[in-house]
Amino acid sequence: PLTIQIASTGQQIGVAADRTAVQALAAAEIDIMTSCEQGFCGTCITRVLAGKCDHRDICLTGEEKERNDAFTPCCSRASTPLLVLDL
Ligand code: FES
Repeated sequence: PLTIQIASTGQQIGVAADRTAVQALAAAEIDIMTSCEQGFCGTCITRVLAGKCDHRDICLTGEEKERNDAFTPCCSRASTPLLVLDL
């Protein structure tokens, strides 16, 4: 299971396997702007401070994915149990 931590507040939010990070954040009243919700548009790109992203979008370049400092929470997940977002 994935846990997202909000850097500014320390709040931790669990992301169930059948939910996206955007959905889990919305349930905790943290709204991320989205558009395509499928990894195409880049609207939802959010800065990542810690943890390793499991990128599932097609909008970040290979180099940007490699940098591991941002991800698309509408579709991407993490390969570490905790992902800290700059929110
Ligand atoms: Fe389009 Fe996430 S909403 S990439």
